Amino acid sequence: MKYSGEELPTGFLGRSARIVQIRAQIEKIGVGRTPVLIQGESGTGKEVAARSLFNANPQGQFVPIECGSMVGTLMESELFGHTRHAFTGAGENKRGLMELANGGTAFFDEIGDLALELQVKLLRVLQEREYRPVGSLQRVKVDVRIIAATHRNLEREIAAGRFREDLFHRLNVIRLTLPPLRDRKEDIPLLIERFIASPDRRYSIANEAMDAIMRYDWPGNVRELKNCIDRMIAMNSGPLLHFTDLPSNVIYHARAGTSTATTVAATVGGARGIPLPPPVVALRGIVPLQALERQAIEHALQQTAGDRTEAALLLGIGRTTLYRKLKEYQLGEN
Ligand SMILES: Nc1ncnc2c1ncn2[C@@H]1O[C@H](COP(=O)(O)OP(=O)(O)OP(=O)(O)O)[C@@H](O)[C@H]1O
Ligand SMILES: [Mg+2]
Repeated sequence: MKYSGEELPTGFLGRSARIVQIRAQIEKIGVGRTPVLIQGESGTGKEVAARSLFNANPQGQFVPIECGSMVGTLMESELFGHTRHAFTGAGENKRGLMELANGGTAFFDEIGDLALELQVKLLRVLQEREYRPVGSLQRVKVDVRIIAATHRNLEREIAAGRFREDLFHRLNVIRLTLPPLRDRKEDIPLLIERFIASPDRRYSIANEAMDAIMRYDWPGNVRELKNCIDRMIAMNSGPLLHFTDLPSNVIYHARAGTSTATTVAATVGGARGIPLPPPVVALRGIVPLQALERQAIEHALQQTAGDRTEAALLLGIGRTTLYRKLKEYQLGEN
């Protein structure tokens, strides 16, 4: 792989056409103050995109706001601040996140989770550029760029009555849609290169492991990929990250989901000295369920170094069932 740790680019990484295009969009719209709505599955990099938008033309502060974390008055005072005696226990005047974001950017993360009563108040900020701290009669002027992100389909949330349509239209002036990682697998090597970059160690990945990574679908997207690499580094003592250090779901997918090859051989088992099962014939890319089951059991035993109680636990079946299946598949010394 061609980057050394120091030369790695920062920001929103990727070489796929979609990401190159999104990066160009970020550079362009980062300059303005128009609201931006970022949509994408969990782990696709919504926060990285929001921060890149801010960094394209940094003004004031970038203030992240977790919309799902608080409800009601607490969230309102967190956002807009409150005056003394606004409510029992209010204490002194308190500045809100909006005041902090004044002149800068407020990042409303998981905007789909924002309580309806706060949606009204945010709409006011967008329309009138002002808000009222809790307990105050005075309105406060504010100049803030709003970036909102969500993994939800807001149109569906509107239909379900959970999201205000007027707020949606105010936010949806520019929309960035981040593609799932499975649709841009060519970005994976570059992302991995970033994740394994460390000042004091050069890691590399065994080809077999890389193949499995490229074949996996990454439902948790870049976040899942990062966790996977972190885990491989933690599991490994040397600089080469092995296939067997991969999380079991990735290994399992690699062994079971081969769509091009007609035989699914248990390469891992072989490497560890566990007898290989008879080759499984995959017709039209479909592996028989029994073969998948057998492989899952073998894999669980391998992960637990032959501990059947733990293997049964991992497999989510009872010990007796595991024994029966071991017999059925003629596994172990049953
Ligand atoms: N294009 C990218 N370049 C570099 N790192 C990325 C990229 N996309 C995601 N990441 C990394 O993946 C992880 C998840 O990214 P981020 O938190 O931005 O995703 P998200 O869409 O906000 O996810 P969630 O919905 O889980 O909050 C972070 O560690 C982030 O640094
Ligand atoms: Mg996020």
